Formats: sequence, structure tokens, C-alpha cells
Amino acid sequence: MSPFQITRTLPEDATDAALRADVLAGLTATPKTLPPKWFYDAHGSELFERITTLPEYYPTRAEREILIDRSAEIAAATGARTLIELGSGSSEKTRYLIDALTSLRTYVPVDVSESALTQAGRALVAERPDLDVHALIADFTGTFTLPDTPGPRLVAFLGGTIGNLLPAERAAFLSSVRALLSPGDALLLGTDLVKDEQVLVRAYDDAAGVTAAFDKNVLTVINRELGADFDPAAFDHVAVWDAEHEWIEMRLRSRTAQSVKVPALDLAVDFTAGEEMRTEVSAKFREDGVRDELAAQGLKLTHWWTDREGRFALSLSTVR
Ligand code: SAH
Ligand code: AVI
Repeated sequence: MSPFQITRTLPEDATDAALRADVLAGLTATPKTLPPKWFYDAHGSELFERITTLPEYYPTRAEREILIDRSAEIAAATGARTLIELGSGSSEKTRYLIDALTSLRTYVPVDVSESALTQAGRALVAERPDLDVHALIADFTGTFTLPDTPGPRLVAFLGGTIGNLLPAERAAFLSSVRALLSPGDALLLGTDLVKDEQVLVRAYDDAAGVTAAFDKNVLTVINRELGADFDPAAFDHVAVWDAEHEWIEMRLRSRTAQSVKVPALDLAVDFTAGEEMRTEVSAKFREDGVRDELAAQGLKLTHWWTDREGRFALSLSTVR
């Protein structure tokens, strides 16, 4: 095997069909919604990387701190020879894990963003020519075939991205992760934790407006891919803490009454002035909730580590 391979698990028109189906369902629903996976074209992936460096956006720094402190323990507990990372993005924090996993032979980053996978994969094989990197362009909420590589396998899902799934989607997702694991394999899961509302809202509505640009990027993606005429300047980015569900909601609020055309769907969508469209939830967790959600899908939480300020957690779980 060459040290870097990239495989598209679905034909490109499947992505196109999925975007059409999601946009049609989301823009004709009440209230309107769009799923967050469409943020991540090349520009969206770049904007996300900028978010990770913002002073207000603590999750990346907090998770990096845990990985620096705990990667050796994770390596000792798992002995992984294959690391599969879902929603790997830049794979930047993953390097701590890769360096600590002394038995590691193969790294399988899985992401919808081809640009992120290509950049990360090329950089990694340059740094670690001994490592096979087999990237998969795939939707981690769907089905995909993993390369046949030796166990033990460690599946990592970092960054708190699990919080971008709704509760029913999380259950289905964890059940499919469970199906990837055999006895001796493990799941390393990053979860952002419930904390002060002000801290949370600031993390999703930064002073420099990078998160607002990231939020509005979904409109640019729909314009480019489906010929729509969204004017991103006609929407305001809003971040709201939903205390009942314990999640941050990002929304785009229409500044005026307006009609948007989506020619590829033969659709005209009316917005009233002030109407809000949900573009993302980012759920925040507590230890008991994480343990229960894992247990409900046959996974046993064995380790729980937080950063020193208790903002973010990494958990390790195994097949029960
Ligand atoms: N794990 C990295 C990146 C988090 S950003 C970190 O912790 O910094 C979320 C990543 O998940 C992005 O790279 C995005 O492209 C990817 N992603 C979002 N939804 C996805 C989906 N449904 N399937 C596959 N990848 C997805
Ligand atoms: C990828 N995910 C964990 C990010 C989050 O914090 O929910 C996405 C994001 N949205 C706005 N800022 C960052």
C-alpha cells in the first residue's frame, strides 16, 4: 500500500442528491432548518480552522490539553494498531495520539471535506512516512466500508462533533460505531461540557465575526451547488443557549421579508422579517448523560478525563 490513499466511498452525484434532499426538506419545514454537514466545503473547513484559534472558542484548546496529558494513557489502554478518526478535519490534535500510539500502523481519517483530508493526509505522511494513511471521503452518519487493517482498532470522534447531531441521530450514530468495534477495540469520544451560558454564547458568536461567516457559508454552498440566490448579507448570525436541551443553537435570521429562489429544486422560499432558520445545534454534555448514551448502544465507558478547568471531556469506552 502507498503511504497515502484517498477513497471516495460514494459517487459524487450521491453528495449532490443528499444536498438537494436536505435543502428541500429543510427549507420547506416549519421552522426552517439546514443540517450542519454542508458548512464544510473548502472555505468552510478553512473558516472552522480559524474558529479553533479564536480567544472565545475554548473547546479545541481544552481538548488539546487533555490529549497532551492523556495520550500515553490512551495508548497503554488500547494498544491500537489502527486509528480511525471520524470528522477528522485538519487532524491537528490527532498528532498527539498518533505519536503516543507506538503500535500504530494505519490511520484512517474519515470526513466529508475532501480538501481537509487531502491537506491533512499529505502533511501527515511527510511527517510520518512509516504510517499508512488511508483517507475516506464519507458521511459518518451513513454506511461506509473501512479498509481491512489489523486490530486493535481505536475509533476517535474528537472536537465535540457528536454534539452537532440531534439526540436520535446520536443514538443511531453510536449504534453504527458500536457495529464497527470488536472485543478489544475502543471508542475515544470528545464531548464539550455544560457550563456558564455567557461563555458558551461567546464561543459561538465571536467578536471578530468568524463564526458568523462560517454560519453564512452554508448559504454560499447552496448558491454554488443549487444555483440559489441567497444574499448572505441579508441574514444575521444568532447563537442562542437552549437550557432545556442543553445545546447552543446557531441560526440565520432574515433581516427583511424576502424570497429566495433555488432553481435546481424549482423552489421559491419566503422568509418573513426576523424569521430564524436553524443551521446547527452544538449539544453540551454531563458525565452521566455520556455514560448512559454509550451504555444504551452497548458501549461501556471506562475512562473519563477533563481539562484542568473542567470545560471539555474525553472518554474511552469499549464493547460491553
Ligand atoms: N475533529 C476536528 C474537526 C472538527 S470540525 C477537530 O476536532 O478540530 C467537524 C469535522 O467533521 C469537519 O472536518 C467536517 O467536514 C466533518 N463533518 C461534519 N459532518 C460530517 C459528516 N456527516 N460526515 C463526515 N464528516 C463530517
Ligand atoms: C465541529 N463542531 C464541534 C463545532 C462546534 O463547536 O459545535 C462546530 C462549530 N460551530 C460553530 N463553531 C464551531
